[in-house]
Amino acid sequence: MGRSAPFFLRHGGDMLEEKIKRVLEEFRTDSKGTASPQELRNKYFGRKNGMVTLLMKELQLVPPAEKPVAGKQVNELKLALEAELDGLEAGSASQALAERLQAERVDVTLPGNRRPIGHSHPLTLVRSEIEDIFSSMGYWVEDGPEIETTFYNFEALNIPEHHPARDSQDTFYISDTLLLRTHTSPVQIRTMQKQRPPLRIICPGKVYRRDNPDATHSPAFQQIEGLAVDESLTFRDFKGTLEYFLKAFFSQKTKVRFRPSYFAFTEPSAEVDISCIFCAGVGCRVCKTSGWIEVLGAGMVDPAVFRYVDYDPEKYTGFAFGLGIERFAMLKYSVNNIQYFYESDLRFLEQF
Ligand code: PHE
Repeated sequence: MGRSAPFFLRHGGDMLEEKIKRVLEEFRTDSKGTASPQELRNKYFGRKNGMVTLLMKELQLVPPAEKPVAGKQVNELKLALEAELDGLEAGSASQALAERLQAERVDVTLPGNRRPIGHSHPLTLVRSEIEDIFSSMGYWVEDGPEIETTFYNFEALNIPEHHPARDSQDTFYISDTLLLRTHTSPVQIRTMQKQRPPLRIICPGKVYRRDNPDATHSPAFQQIEGLAVDESLTFRDFKGTLEYFLKAFFSQKTKVRFRPSYFAFTEPSAEVDISCIFCAGVGCRVCKTSGWIEVLGAGMVDPAVFRYVDYDPEKYTGFAFGLGIERFAMLKYSVNNIQYFYESDLRFLEQF
């Protein structure tokens, strides 16, 4: 095949128009088939063997006289196919996008996964409520360590060496002089050591006793200690404060009774009862038909305690009390087993 031969025009015996028509028809068929726009672009515009590319190359062999016409026709073919390919590509891109949008569709109106919102433990609720009542009377909250010395837990509270309260039957000892505090009263001493009167404090916290767990006992439980010290506090202030607190916590109808009792660190000491909140004092199973329920221990601060912290007992008087948070929670919420507070059973906890 010589260079001079009208190769382009006569290649395969076809005229130029024939060839263009064939390529165009083949493209039409192809574009309706399953080939991707990418494959079609390769077949028609591939750098080496693309059908249009080959036609363009063949143009070089066309005699100069026929070149303008031939060039125009091939160029029109090229433009037409490119336009169609552009359209196909745009179509397939938007189809791909549509498919992806469909596949990844999220219905924002569907209800989400609800995460349960937590809330305070009933013992925390009771502690906060008691803190609030005393805060409203000008008390502030103090804190002390759960691991105590025998000095703070006993001695400074006027509980001497061989007092039965020190018995290792009741106390978790860590060493001869270290123990888990058996009550929050040591915080009284710690606070008085670092501050001068007037003092109005409450101290909530965990305490430990060697009790076997049952419906009313736990080896670890929580108390709130209270202490007020000033120059002329009397037994009337003491009674009035506790009566105000107990009525605010339980109900204004609650009656309050002070029974003589004994604590080494208070004198006089009292055990404080409220009228039974279950039978209003008539007598029931909870109050063992007495109509009264014991709720806390208290008393006027013993002068011996003041001497341990260098407060002048001639100048200052005070009162103190200690209560069990669990006991208050059991009464307030009618819970008949202290263990429920520690079992983390949501069926129980969700009721508060
Ligand atoms: N600390 C005593 C107890 O745990 C309670 C108490 C506190 C009594 C303060 C009197 C004054 O039983």
